[in-house]
Amino acid sequence: MSFGLKRTDWCGELGATDIGREIVVNGWVARRRDHGGLIFIDVRDITGIIQVVCDPRESAESHATAEGVRPEYVLGVKGRVRGRPEGTENPEMATGQVEVVVEEIEVMNTSETPPFEIRDGINVDEKVRLQYRFCDLRREEMMAGFKLRHRVVNATHRYLDSLRFTEVETPQLCKSTPEGARDYLVPSRVQPGRFYALPQSPQLFKQVLMVSGFDRYYQIARCFRDEDLRADRQPEFTQVDLEMSFVEEDDVIAVIDGLLRAVFEATGRTLDTPVERMPYDRAMDLYGTDRPDMRYGLRMGTLDDVFAGTEFKVFAETLASGGCIRGMRVEGGSSMSRSALDGWNKAAQQEGAAGMIWMVREEEGLRSPVAKYLTEPEQEGLARNLELERGDAAFVLAGKRWDCDEILYTLRPRVAESLGMGSSGEFRLVWIVDWPLLEYDRVEQRYKALHHPFTSPTEDSLPRLEDDPLSARARAYDIVMNGVEIGGGSIRIHRRDVQERMFSLLGIEPEEYRTRFGFLLEALQYGAPPHGGVALGLDRLVMLLAGRETIRDVIAFPKTQSASDLMTGAPDEVSPAQLRDLGLKRGQT
Ligand code: AMO
Repeated sequence: MSFGLKRTDWCGELGATDIGREIVVNGWVARRRDHGGLIFIDVRDITGIIQVVCDPRESAESHATAEGVRPEYVLGVKGRVRGRPEGTENPEMATGQVEVVVEEIEVMNTSETPPFEIRDGINVDEKVRLQYRFCDLRREEMMAGFKLRHRVVNATHRYLDSLRFTEVETPQLCKSTPEGARDYLVPSRVQPGRFYALPQSPQLFKQVLMVSGFDRYYQIARCFRDEDLRADRQPEFTQVDLEMSFVEEDDVIAVIDGLLRAVFEATGRTLDTPVERMPYDRAMDLYGTDRPDMRYGLRMGTLDDVFAGTEFKVFAETLASGGCIRGMRVEGGSSMSRSALDGWNKAAQQEGAAGMIWMVREEEGLRSPVAKYLTEPEQEGLARNLELERGDAAFVLAGKRWDCDEILYTLRPRVAESLGMGSSGEFRLVWIVDWPLLEYDRVEQRYKALHHPFTSPTEDSLPRLEDDPLSARARAYDIVMNGVEIGGGSIRIHRRDVQERMFSLLGIEPEEYRTRFGFLLEALQYGAPPHGGVALGLDRLVMLLAGRETIRDVIAFPKTQSASDLMTGAPDEVSPAQLRDLGLKRGQT
């Protein structure tokens, strides 16, 4: 099954300097047009498209072959490059100045008619695209995401190598080390009834590598988490995972700032460093979230003090019942029509609010359906607190703090979009620092680590860990890009006694933590250096850089919402013999 016409040149790279050369391109038929006598074929390879012309006067045989050619046939084309005749140049095409006059065509393979057109900007059900992924990936905009991804990974290897990081692979068949999600389990055949877990991240292995003296480790690591899927969540995803010894927060953050700078440069963008930092409490206060989109304002504020003595019933009752009043400044919101403003009230109600009040700051004061219920000092206090300028609006909610923040957080990007704030080509990053160590889970009635149980408390939190756990702070940091969490990490606990205290705080009994984490506790007793690290979500980073809306577009073979691979049909049933080997029985579904 050999073929005759072997590539001398790439389709997308032919240009004026090649005029007169005899060349061979290999690729797919992107388009074929029969112009009475002349047949034009656009041939596509990974670099782009070149137009080839079959003229029966040049080669009757290839013209006859071209007549039978259909979209997505695989061709070898030999011919001579010439400048396009005047008036037929195509400035839209990178190779639009030239074309290839065909001398010989070889059809290496035919193709069924694809289930959708192989071109950018198609409007096709994603399920069909995933089922026919081989066709989908052939589209230029998809390919562009993978070229970008390659450049990001390549820049990452080069940058970390320059800083003396050593790449080390860690196992895929592991003991379960929980990171907050459910594990994917793999049954052992040789030890029936026992299971491996696929790693949720290489967290404990990288810490052990620090104990082993690697000093600086990294890995482009595949991670597995059985959790509810979203646009930026896949069951299988990739981290740029790293760990460093003898470091503090600033050292790890500086490495990632530098890494992102290198990645931005390698992909033709620029990033100003150091990346801004914001304490967790401030982010929660101003944006109601720990992953604020910093491309626009729309900041929030708490108005409890302003309305402490109010006679406006809704606010007074909320405050009396322990709730709060939260407002969001909407820059330029006065440009919204009354019905648009009322529309945001409805939108808030759809998100679960009893109602949202809008106010517009005008020359003569506040304009609002409730303005007459608010005193002058209250109106002024609100404007001052939310830093309202003339022409701004405020959206105000009364209720439980958590609910208000959740609703405003959901509305924020929609409001931004409606006012034309923030574009996808703009990148704003922020480190969220100074995190609480724990949160209290009311359902499970226990403390949970906000990051993971291996994150070190701050030195001054240590003495009050047991007495006042919720006041303890963590040596943790997350990095957020355009409102998406693209990474997180921490300085770790490197002493066994502190790690045991941490497990106890989380309600894990000594017997259990010795069984599950015995190897880590043991390792900490054999000269564990102070260490810390971070992991970047590679898929999310590439998604944002590529201007895509979902990480599925930058993962070659992603899973659907129900964790299926529509191309291969995974997950699938297995044979009774396979189950028998593993000592498993088929369950009821
Ligand atoms: P964390 O759980 O925060 O930290 O994960 C690090 C980063 O990985 C990305 N990420 C995901 N991307 C796609 N799909 C998912 N299901 C998914 N889950 C997480 C996010 C996230 O910021 N071991 C620690 C890191 C450390 O402490 O060094 C960890 O895994 O971008």
